[in-house]
Amino acid sequence: MRALDIITKKRDQQTLSKEEIHFLIDGYTRHQIPDYQMAAWAMAVQLNGMNHEEITDLTLAMANSGEILDLSSFDSVIVDKHSTGGVGDKTTISVAPMVAACGLYVGKMSGRGLGYSGGTIDKLESIPGFKVALSTDQFITQLQKIGIVLAGQSLDLAPADGKLYALRDATGTVPSIPLIASSIMSKKIAAGADAIVLDVKVGKGAFMKDIDSARELAEVMVEIGKLSNRRVIALLSAMDQPLGNAVGNALELVEAVKMLKGEAPADYYEHCISIAAYMLLIANKANNLKNARQLVEATVKDGSAFNKLCELTEAQHGDTSCLIDLSKLPKASYVETILAPQTGYISELNAQIIGEACVVLGGGRAKKEDNIDPSVGIILHAKIGDRVEEGQKLLDVHYNRPQVIQDAIDKLKLAVKIDELPVEPPPHNLGVIGL
Ligand code: URA
Repeated sequence: MRALDIITKKRDQQTLSKEEIHFLIDGYTRHQIPDYQMAAWAMAVQLNGMNHEEITDLTLAMANSGEILDLSSFDSVIVDKHSTGGVGDKTTISVAPMVAACGLYVGKMSGRGLGYSGGTIDKLESIPGFKVALSTDQFITQLQKIGIVLAGQSLDLAPADGKLYALRDATGTVPSIPLIASSIMSKKIAAGADAIVLDVKVGKGAFMKDIDSARELAEVMVEIGKLSNRRVIALLSAMDQPLGNAVGNALELVEAVKMLKGEAPADYYEHCISIAAYMLLIANKANNLKNARQLVEATVKDGSAFNKLCELTEAQHGDTSCLIDLSKLPKASYVETILAPQTGYISELNAQIIGEACVVLGGGRAKKEDNIDPSVGIILHAKIGDRVEEGQKLLDVHYNRPQVIQDAIDKLKLAVKIDELPVEPPPHNLGVIGL
């Protein structure tokens, strides 16, 4: 078998066999197939697609390229969630403790932010001392002991995805449904969870810009889940505007912690309750969605979810006093406020542009190896559909480097549109697949 023949086959829109896909992924993982051939193949997939069988074969080949966590010794279901990525999406930090406080094991590996899209691991690292690099043994021991782990992606799990994702990022082959679906699901399968809730984002700040492609991605991932004996459902949720009011690592952490104290913006509160309730439902911890919602809401009201976050933080060497006194988290030196230039209704708060402005401030990475500033970011004072008066506060920009503030403000002004006529707040939940 030769990589060249597999590349030309996909270029000519033919279907690849399981053996061919395995040969390619195995050879790439073992450095026997060079980046330039893998990049050519990824572009052929980007342009010509793959059928469901090819995508499943690709997913399993990537999952099997490294270690697969064996969590079969646990006495109950292990549940996981995954978001396809967006702006202001700090859901995991609120939802994982809520679900763990309901008595389920939540063992989750999360990613860092890349480009305008944020990452849970960067947000958690705003807590001084919080350690995200755990060995497999530490991951399993902590999960057994306290029922919750939020760790960075282990290099031993699905290493083929790690290599391929970096290559895709540099070759214009990220927005391909087969490549995204196999990338996400290979990591989920390798991380060992029995039940997974996927949060597929749709809109200006998401990989999937329209509902049809988001639905297709969700359906493919649910299908892969079935074929690999995992319980998987996918929620489709809006990402035209940021989720909640905070964008930027420490600012988002504050919002995620406040959620556990019952003080969250309405869209973020509803999103967290909904994701957590579906996690309970697919893990058979509740017999219907209403009951599941009551159970997760109770963990906010009685403080058990917040206590679980403190337990998690302590186990991972973070300073829990910062969760009790949020003013101890990293803070930017300056805040510049953008005011509404006219009276009217907010009709656009472009999530991608707001995410890019956060990168300009230093809160995200242009390249994988860049350092980030946890304290910078943006607070939204109004959301789509809200009425604003001329001169009213629209956005607060938290920054440290005066030389970048004008660039960020210029961008942010382009992100906001105000109409004279009333605008309906857009729906957030756009459907559920795989129930
Ligand atoms: N998230 C992933 O893990 N992989 C992708 O390809 C896209 C989003």
